[in-house]
Amino acid sequence: MTARINATVTPEGRAPRLAAGRFCPVDYRYDPSVFRRAPDIVAPALVVAGGLYGNGQALDALEARVKAERHLALVLNGDAHWFDATPDWFGRMEARLAAYPALRGNVETEIARAGDIGAGCGCAYPPDVDSGVVERSNIILARLRDMAGHLPGAATRMGALPMHLVAQVGDARIGIVHGDAWSLAGWDFAHDALDATTDERMRLLQETTGIDVFASTHTCLPALRRFDDGRLTIINNGAAGMPNFTGTRFGLATRIGLTPAPDALYGVTVKGVHVEAVPVAYDAAAFDADFATAWPEGSPAHASYAGRIAKGPTFTLAQAMPH
Ligand SMILES: [Fe+2]
Repeated sequence: MTARINATVTPEGRAPRLAAGRFCPVDYRYDPSVFRRAPDIVAPALVVAGGLYGNGQALDALEARVKAERHLALVLNGDAHWFDATPDWFGRMEARLAAYPALRGNVETEIARAGDIGAGCGCAYPPDVDSGVVERSNIILARLRDMAGHLPGAATRMGALPMHLVAQVGDARIGIVHGDAWSLAGWDFAHDALDATTDERMRLLQETTGIDVFASTHTCLPALRRFDDGRLTIINNGAAGMPNFTGTRFGLATRIGLTPAPDALYGVTVKGVHVEAVPVAYDAAAFDADFATAWPEGSPAHASYAGRIAKGPTFTLAQAMPH
């Protein structure tokens, strides 16, 4: 990825010059100083799962982890719905998701939005993402909005979710976001953007927020990076509900805890707290069957995602790990 989009709707509310799905609605933005507050969540361990994408089997795997480990809090950091675009599947997911502390990602925000302002899926895709992908995402979002329209209370629940949370695990302050520290759908915590940023910018972000670790998602590819001699750590879980590495079929979540996870793929320690990427080993065959019911061959989601669901993206563990 090369360039980033920072366009917004004009203050006058004029139509954006960028196509639907290409820009950040102005109400997606927040000032990093919002993170300088008392924690919303205090727990000895968290598992932060973004990009569940309606994968009920991935939620099964996350719930099994929570059950196996006492005092582990599951936090959903957005885009929990996506592929679940049949009334039955969407309804089942919505009933389960409502039980957990959650953020609204761009998917929840655009499902909940009363009038379409032309944001499409709200993904704010960078220019190097193919326009076919963007157009298909907008169609998927329209179907989800239709599902929510037939499920009383769903859009209201999603629209009321916060855009960010602050958690305290031991001595570490955790900023939980969907995109980045500036916008709900920001791409500044994408692996390549993190590799291109400066220690100076991240030092300023740490000083402004008082946050030690940001846990993000949204970009669909994972990354763990440290800045300013370890004073700020960014961990992006990629997707909990889709594979993240070439040739694999498991999702990924972020675990932050006083004790380490036995199955961590990689991680760092921040103020004595373990910040790790853990696998979400979902039942891939069962998920494939659900996916096929909603998105058969020739459908928008099949065109965009079937390859990744079956074989993973062109991305390696080495690219995600600190380097
Ligand atoms: Fe997203």
